[in-house]
Amino acid sequence: MYIPCVAGGFVMTARLRATEIISPLRAFIFAAALSAAFVLVLAPVFPGETTLNPGEPAYKTFRVDGTVIAEKGQAVDDSALDRITQAGLLDNKTEADAVAAAVIISVLGGAMIALYLYLFQPREVNTLARLVMVGLLVFLWVAAAKVFFSLTLPDDDRLYLGYMLPIAAAGMLIATLLDGGLAIAVAALLAMLVSFAGFYLPDARNSISDDPLQALQMPLAFVLGGIAGIFAVRRAERVNHYAMAGATVGVVTFCVLFSFWLLSPEREGVDLLWMLTAAGLGGFGCAVITVGGTVVLGVIFGVTTRIQLMELAQLSHPLLRELQEKAPGTFHHSVMVGNLAERAADLVGADSLLVRVGCYFHDIGKIAKPEYYIENQLDTGNPHDKLQPGVSARLVSEHVRIGLQLTGRYRLPSRVRAFIPEHHGTRLVTYFYRKASAHDPTIDPEKFRYPGPKPQTKETAIVMLADSTEAVVRSSRDRSHERIGELVDGVIAERVTEGQFDECDLTMRDFRIIGESFKATLRGIYHPRIEYPSPTKAELQTTGSSPIAYLKPPSDPMEAPPHV
Ligand SMILES: [Fe+2]
Ligand SMILES: [Fe+2]
Repeated sequence: MYIPCVAGGFVMTARLRATEIISPLRAFIFAAALSAAFVLVLAPVFPGETTLNPGEPAYKTFRVDGTVIAEKGQAVDDSALDRITQAGLLDNKTEADAVAAAVIISVLGGAMIALYLYLFQPREVNTLARLVMVGLLVFLWVAAAKVFFSLTLPDDDRLYLGYMLPIAAAGMLIATLLDGGLAIAVAALLAMLVSFAGFYLPDARNSISDDPLQALQMPLAFVLGGIAGIFAVRRAERVNHYAMAGATVGVVTFCVLFSFWLLSPEREGVDLLWMLTAAGLGGFGCAVITVGGTVVLGVIFGVTTRIQLMELAQLSHPLLRELQEKAPGTFHHSVMVGNLAERAADLVGADSLLVRVGCYFHDIGKIAKPEYYIENQLDTGNPHDKLQPGVSARLVSEHVRIGLQLTGRYRLPSRVRAFIPEHHGTRLVTYFYRKASAHDPTIDPEKFRYPGPKPQTKETAIVMLADSTEAVVRSSRDRSHERIGELVDGVIAERVTEGQFDECDLTMRDFRIIGESFKATLRGIYHPRIEYPSPTKAELQTTGSSPIAYLKPPSDPMEAPPHV
């Protein structure tokens, strides 16, 4: 049974991996689709007319039937303007050169995002739906910018109106829902594409032709604002965190605009007011879109949001209430494992909130038959005494299957569900296996094995270690400083040797940090307590004689409640 089972496990893992990664074909299709979408948005010029007033210098040389009507830079008089207008030279027309430029930029933009996805394989972009979400977000933002700019550019307020557009929100959404690195790549590309969309319009192009620095201002403000927003929104858990992230985008955008304003020879005081309004509105828009978008997209694309995790970490979930009622020992164990694992997760850069929630639900399947687990056997007998070791092992390992069923019924996010099978990996139900093999040394260990898979992420690996460590230290009679150290090191070494961490990316350095963190937490919990001295006579006299015996202060120091 061993070989087929292991082989089956390998095939299953390989198949899972194959569907998770972004294959070259997928990346190519993604690049082609995104590029085509960009071309459709970027290439057309919205109908309208470029403004040119009598007396203004011509922004280019105008020719009608080969005759120069106005040289570039020369003031245009009424009659010249009439001829230029009648010849339709001020109309916004789609020109072949401009379309070709838009096509090249679109293909480059689509290819860059696809290449990032293919080369860096962000772990969270593991389904086709999520890949579509990334493409849609980038495309929608470029399309929105094109429409907005065609309505507002050129503006008399030196292009400041454009900064009301919450461009940073796309990167912030990708950072909260998927991956920070991908978000930065998208923010950088969007800043360029959006600026291109703006200046592709003849109106806008002409209005900045006398100040080339203005052309740099827009991409720089969008890229720096976008990246600042991504940093600020990283691991945001409450609405006020999103508000702060929006404010950060506003402040950074304003700073960029202010620096360009200082370089501008035509600066006016009123510009500051425009900059402040545009950057403020842009930042506010980013905060609102990110909060709303996180919730909506999280539901549509099945992404676990931090707001969801915060709710699950409250211990008020009906499943956790039931666990507390039916299996108080398991509930206490889960909270203890949570405390142990959360701190270690923080130290190795894993997601500590996800780890805490995962710990709360990791043994949820024990609700079904709590009496079969040692932590719930307080004064009741051990039902395993009457069972064959094989039957006991099956009953114990059942908590994984039942746990998965329960999380399905209660619609827990898949990232939380993963903790249930992965916290035991493909380990043996050791106690019952050893008991069985004492009677029959030829017994097949595979019958005593958890179904797996092995931990796939840093988070589930930390919980596997914390789970075993907590149980081992709790059941040890000696919880001295040194013994805790030995037990923690022993558990880590054993799991590593078993190969349980072969499929996750914890390093040897991480194991050392996790071990030290576990030791510090456990030594804090099990530190030796100082004996309380007996109450003095004066204390006893002041309390007087109580008619209720149990209200009397204890005379034996050992009876004193430990927290006094
Ligand atoms: Fe378990
Ligand atoms: Fe556990």
